[in-house]
Order: sequence, then structure tokens, then C-alpha cells
Amino acid sequence: MSDFDKLVADTQATLARVAAEFSPAVFASSLAAEDMVLTDLILRAKLPIGIFTLETGRLHEETLGMVERIRETYGYEVRLYTPETAAIDAYVRQNGLNAFYDSVEMRKECCRIRKVEPLNRALAGNKAWITGQRRAQSTTRAELAVQEDDAAHGMTKFNPLADWSEEDVWRYIRDNKVPYNPLHDKGYPSIGCEPCTRAIQPGEDVRAGRWWWENPESKECGLHVVDGKLVRIKSVPA
Ligand code: ADX
Ligand code: SF4
Repeated sequence: MSDFDKLVADTQATLARVAAEFSPAVFASSLAAEDMVLTDLILRAKLPIGIFTLETGRLHEETLGMVERIRETYGYEVRLYTPETAAIDAYVRQNGLNAFYDSVEMRKECCRIRKVEPLNRALAGNKAWITGQRRAQSTTRAELAVQEDDAAHGMTKFNPLADWSEEDVWRYIRDNKVPYNPLHDKGYPSIGCEPCTRAIQPGEDVRAGRWWWENPESKECGLHVVDGKLVRIKSVPA
């Protein structure tokens, strides 16, 4: 078995273990490349793991189009969680539509309303959740483990692609003809909300186009951090 085949087999085993031992479990999909790999692995194996997306109201059209592509390819309906209208209205009224460019605090508040609060609703009642994070993605993810104790949400968190390289992700997508966000072919290796993501130049860091006006240390949206600190308090070996 090649190293790549072993990586895929290990990831399949992790997902099967989550389904068997941590039910009910859900997978948070941003609809980007890594998350399409996990979507493919979960749906091909028919694992009882629900897939949801935080529909922030500021995603690219291409990103939202992936919901339709998933429906066409797998016959699966991704569940969308939207922010609370009253909170969005208050933020926009007080600060303007694009106040996230003004300060890290304003940006985090927008992410809190549009991503973190809906995430809490999406996770409620589950034993575990799954993400598509990889260790190589950023300085803030260098210590990422496949299985973590997510004390903040009171459940176990799995990052089955923690060991995967960007090359592995694209190899899996190519080999298995997995549909992917067309923005990846237009210079966007990492995709978040439209106003907070831009294309990068060859040779730039993969996350250079995310919140490009901020320092690398602050570039997390709060889905994976609490009070500005990483939630990786306790790692459990896989
Ligand atoms: S972020 O924290 O900087 O926004 P990134 O885009 O790298 O995260 O995605 C890391 C993981 O967070 C994804 O693989 C996915 O599990 C989760 N995630 C990010 N954005 C969303 C979203 N809009 N909906 C659901 N899950 C998301
Ligand atoms: Fe708001 Fe940008 Fe965060 Fe999206 S990524 S929730 S638009 S600050």
C-alpha cells in the first residue's frame, strides 16, 4: 500500500470510528477543497454523519453553488445554518456593512455573529464534530491533532485531514473526480467569506488571501478558537 493509500485508509477508519462511537456526529463544511474530500469520504461510505455549512450571507456565489453540486453528485442536501437577522441588522446599523476592515475586534464580532453563534446551534446535541483543518495550513494549526477534546463545545472534535498535505487533497480530488469550488482554479487556495478572501500570487502562503490586512496570528474566525486562544487545551492521540 502506498503512503497515500494508507493516508486515505486511515482517514476512512477515523470517519468510520466517529460514526460508530461518537453518534450523533456532524461535519462542518466550508465547501472548500478539504471539505469536499471529507464530503466524498463520508457520503461514499454512507456514514450517518450530518453535513452542514454556515451560510454567513457573505459567501461567494461559487461557494454556495457547491451545495447544488453536492446535491447533483451525491443526492445529498447539505444543511445550511444562517445568522440571526436581528444581530446582523444591529451590527450593520451601528457599524456599517463592511466594518470588519476597521479593526480585528470589529472583524471578530462579524465572525461571531455570522459564524460562531450559528456554529453553536449546529453543534448542539452532538457528541462530536468534524472539520477539514490541516496542520500545514497555518501557524495557528501547527499542533493540530486528529482527535481533540473540545471543552468549549463540550464534545470531541475530529480533524481527520490533520496529516494531509495540500498535494494529498488535490490528488484525492483528481483520483476520485470530486467536484470542487471553481474559485480554487482562480488563485484561491483558501476560501472564506467573499469580502474577506482574495486571490493570492504564486509562491504566497495558502492563507495569504484570508483577512489579508491582518497579522497571521489573528487570522482565525473563532470557529476554532475561544477568547482569542486556541482551544487545543488537550489533545488525545488518534
Ligand atoms: S477559518 O476558521 O479560517 O474560517 P477555514 O476556512 O480554514 O477556517 O476552514 C477550516 C475548517 O473550518 C473547515 O474545514 C470547516 O470544517 C470549518 N469551516 C470554515 N468555514 C465554514 C463554514 N462557512 N461552514 C462550515 N464549516 C466551516
Ligand atoms: Fe464577517 Fe468576514 Fe468573518 Fe465573514 S469572514 S463573518 S464577512 S468578518
